[in-house]
Amino acid sequence: MTLKKVETLSLLKRTLNYFLPYKLHILAAFAALGLVALSTAGAAYLVQPALDEIFINKDGTALMVVPLLLIAVFLGKGTGLFVQKFLMSYCGLKVLERLRYELFAKIICLPVNFFGETRVGMLMSRIINDVNLISSSLPELIRIIQHSLTMIGLVALIIYRDPKLAFWACLVFPLAVYPIIYFGKKLRKVGRNYQSKIADISSHLQESFNGLRVVKAFAAEDKEKEKFGQTSAKLVRISLKGNVYNQLSSPIMELIGALGAGLVIWYGGSEVIAGNRTPGEFFSFLTALVMLYDPFKSISQANNTIQQAMAGAERVFEILDAADLQEETGGTMQYEPPFSSLSFQNVTFSYPGVSEPALRNINLEIRAGERVALVGQSGAGKTTLVQLIPRFYDCQEGRIVLNGRPLGDYTLPSLRTNIGIVSQDPFLFNLSVRDNIAYGQPRVDLAAVEKAARAAYAHDFIMELPEGYDTVVGEKGVKLSGGQKQRLTIARAILTDPSLLILDEATSALDTESERIVQQALENLMNNRTSIIIAHRLSTILSADKIAVMQHGRILSLGTHQQLLQTCAVYARLHDLQFKKNGSAQDV
Ligand SMILES: Nc1ncnc2c1ncn2[C@@H]1O[C@H](COP(=O)(O)OP(=O)(O)O)[C@@H](O)[C@H]1O
Ligand SMILES: [Mg+2]
Repeated sequence: MTLKKVETLSLLKRTLNYFLPYKLHILAAFAALGLVALSTAGAAYLVQPALDEIFINKDGTALMVVPLLLIAVFLGKGTGLFVQKFLMSYCGLKVLERLRYELFAKIICLPVNFFGETRVGMLMSRIINDVNLISSSLPELIRIIQHSLTMIGLVALIIYRDPKLAFWACLVFPLAVYPIIYFGKKLRKVGRNYQSKIADISSHLQESFNGLRVVKAFAAEDKEKEKFGQTSAKLVRISLKGNVYNQLSSPIMELIGALGAGLVIWYGGSEVIAGNRTPGEFFSFLTALVMLYDPFKSISQANNTIQQAMAGAERVFEILDAADLQEETGGTMQYEPPFSSLSFQNVTFSYPGVSEPALRNINLEIRAGERVALVGQSGAGKTTLVQLIPRFYDCQEGRIVLNGRPLGDYTLPSLRTNIGIVSQDPFLFNLSVRDNIAYGQPRVDLAAVEKAARAAYAHDFIMELPEGYDTVVGEKGVKLSGGQKQRLTIARAILTDPSLLILDEATSALDTESERIVQQALENLMNNRTSIIIAHRLSTILSADKIAVMQHGRILSLGTHQQLLQTCAVYARLHDLQFKKNGSAQDV
């Protein structure tokens, strides 16, 4: 056995484990498919009494009995098929539900650094498509068994009718197998190509629509049209090829079937003419032979589906198992506010896969009630530094101590719910305003939500929305301005009442007008709270108890505004370049 086959088998075994809870359903399905196999062979058997007793011997009893039996046989077959298919799709859907849930549960608990842009699309396709493929594996396997049983029944019947003729017929059969295998392979290859071209088309669509402004700005519509045309033409070529294989396969197989049937009729006919056999026996034989074709074809198709399911299973289990995709783990201690101190002790951190550290030897002490500002050029490491506090990332060297204990000692939920973060791009879910503000709260307390909204200067504009606090916002909901969104996230933070607050350029994406009101909302949020502020605005810096100037992942100097202006050249330059421009007269 090749390695590939061993892998497929173990994948199949693992997939089948998911179906184990449905043992009883599966047993019942087996009973049903036994019924299908028996009644299929029974139908072919009945051809003989129908012909011999009714049409040739003109037997009156047979005239009554055989049609009734025929109806009974097909009733049996129909019932069996329905029961089997229903049970199998039930099991398939249940397994689909469980796998989809397991994948989502695994992925949502992975650390932040797993969620790069490229990975999000891949993850979505796994949860939606690959899981779907897997759910069809067992039902297809059962179908193979069903068709095999049917085949056994039919083969038994043809041997019973005429062993010698059966022998000859079985010689022709392998001939019919070859095209099935050949076309199956070709079709699978076409299918794979088709999928990848579809993916090309959809990524091209996404890219050109998302980047529509760029396309237009560079007058590149014609170029994009041409590119799209080419991809689209490739897709058509592949589809045509697939069509040819598809349409060719059935006539060729039918031809082979006819060849076999011709031989059988020639031989069988001469036997009937010679009086060695009754016409009924012969036609019963022929019917069984023709009926064999269907399960044969279905088995080869089922095999394809199983192969696809296993490919899906491989991709899904890859995520479920991957050793480097570890769920985040926290400590066992509950972090209890109030906040008393946070200290970075010689912290060095590099992003995974990046050799250059983003933070080097950071030492910083933040005490209760302080307002600490981080300043520095873009890329200096300010965001990185604050992301270490809720443990979105863990530092490789040094340690971060919160209230006298390393961060790693605390459970992640207790740590994170006590840290409030307001960043540059506010994120809202497709939920009502109320649920967005109360996101993460164990229960929604209306009065508290409204109080938080008032403190965030959001109440007034919320009341003007079509349905007030019930208005759905976010992707599919009402569009809000950047400042309004930011005020909702500030309300969210106020409601959470974190003991430590992090503001990462919370107002930098806003225009001056909305910035002013958001700034007021932020002041309410910062009131009586320890805060770390990454600021681009002079007023915030001026009110800070201390300012850390960052450059290339290091803290260059630490002090108050006045101290730094005199001692730190980088700060003085930043101040001149950045803050003078942003800070209007009343800020200073
Ligand atoms: N997710 C990431 N993966 C790899 N490198 C990153 C990532 N985020 C930021 N960096 C790099 O880390 C450095 C510090 O970035 P950042 O902390 O965002 O700076 P700042 O917030 O001061 O502008 C930059 O060189 C940036 O390119
Ligand atoms: Mg930043």
